[in-house]
Amino acid sequence: MTAPAVGRTVDVTAGVRPAVRAMPTYVPAKIDHASPTGRQVKLDMNESPYGPSPRARAALAAFDATNRYPDFAASELREALACYTGVPAERIAAGAGLDDVLNNLMVLLVDPGDEVVISEPTFGVYRSLVALRGGRTVDVPLGPRPDFALDAEAILAAITPRTKLVLICDPNNPTGHRFDPASVERVIAGAPCLVAVDEAYAEFAGATILPLMARYPNLCVLRTLSKFAGLAGMRVGYGIFPEALMPDVWRVTPAFCNVSAASTAAAVASLEDVAFLRGVIDRLNADRDRLAADLAALPGVEPFPSATNFLLVRLPVRDARPVVLDLAAHGVHVRHFANPALGIADCLRVSVGTPEEHARFLAALRDALGRAEAAA
Ligand SMILES: Cc1ncc(COP(=O)(O)O)c(C=O)c1O
Repeated sequence: MTAPAVGRTVDVTAGVRPAVRAMPTYVPAKIDHASPTGRQVKLDMNESPYGPSPRARAALAAFDATNRYPDFAASELREALACYTGVPAERIAAGAGLDDVLNNLMVLLVDPGDEVVISEPTFGVYRSLVALRGGRTVDVPLGPRPDFALDAEAILAAITPRTKLVLICDPNNPTGHRFDPASVERVIAGAPCLVAVDEAYAEFAGATILPLMARYPNLCVLRTLSKFAGLAGMRVGYGIFPEALMPDVWRVTPAFCNVSAASTAAAVASLEDVAFLRGVIDRLNADRDRLAADLAALPGVEPFPSATNFLLVRLPVRDARPVVLDLAAHGVHVRHFANPALGIADCLRVSVGTPEEHARFLAALRDALGRAEAAA
C-alpha cells in the first residue's frame, strides 16, 4: 500500500473554471440566530409564516421510505402538478426548488458567450446562473418607479443571434408588482427564442400566463411550491416547457431525480389540499394590504403595489442599509438591495408574515427611522 504523500502540495483550486470565479454570487439574507434580542422575526426570504398544509405535514410525519430512491421520472409528482396546472405531465419537469429548474434551463441553453435578457431589478439568481455557464446577462432595465414597467420593445431590440433566452419574473421579485400582460405577451410574440416566465408568486396574484402556452411555442413557465405551499425547506419547483423541448429537458435533468422522496410526498399531499392553501393565500394577501396601509401611514414611507407575499418599501432615506441593519440588530430581518445600479437602495423588502410579526416590524421600523433621522 502506498503511504499518504505527506507534505506534497496540490493546488486543487487550479482546475476551477474561470466562470465560477467570475460569477456574481447571490448573497442570501443572513440571520444571526444567536442574537441576544430574543425571538427573531424573519421577513427576509418571502417564506410562508404558516408552513405547509395539514395534509403535507401528515405525509411528512408518515414518510419512512428514506432507504429507497425516488421514482427517477418523478411521475407521481408530475401527475399531481398536471392536475393542479391543467397541463399534461409530459410537459412538466420538476427540480429541487425552482433554483434547480432554472439551473437546468441554463445547462440546456447557455454556452460561453451566449446571452440571456433580463430586466433589473429582478431575482438575483438569474445573473449568477448565466455567469456560471460563461454566458452574458443583457439587462433591459425596468422603467421608472412606481410603475417599474417592462419595456417590451427594448427587450426585443436587445435580442441578438446569441440570445438564448428572455427571462421575465412576473410578478417580479423584488418589486412585487405584476407587469402589464400585454407587454409580456408582446415579448413572447416577438422573440425568436425561448421566453421563460418565472411565476414563483403567481398564486398570490391569482393570475398566470399559462393559457398563452397554447398559442406560443416559445413560452416556458416556471413555478415553485416554496412560496404559496409553504414548502421552501422541501425544495420543490417545476417548469412547464414547450413540447418540442421536452426530450432535451430530460437530457439535462439529473438521472437520479433531483426531488427527494420525502419532498415528493409533501408536495403531492399539498396539491391535494389546494382549498386550504387558497385560504392561506387569501389571508396573506389581506394581511399584506393591511401592512401596506400601516406602512403608508408612516411619514415618508411608501410601499409599492404588490401582487405577492412581500412588499418593496421606499424609506425616507438615501440608503436604507443602516435602517435594515438596525432592524436586524433588534431581531427583525428584512432585505436590502445595496447595488446602486438596481436603483432601489433607498428601499427595503419585507415578506408578509403574521399580524404579530407585522406589529413587531412596524414598531422596530418606527424606532429605526427615528434613530436614522436623529443621526442625519
Ligand atoms: C422569483 C423567484 N424565482 C425563483 C425562486 C426560487 O425558488 P425555490 O425556492 O423554488 O428555489 C425565488 C425564491 O425566492 C424567487 O423569488
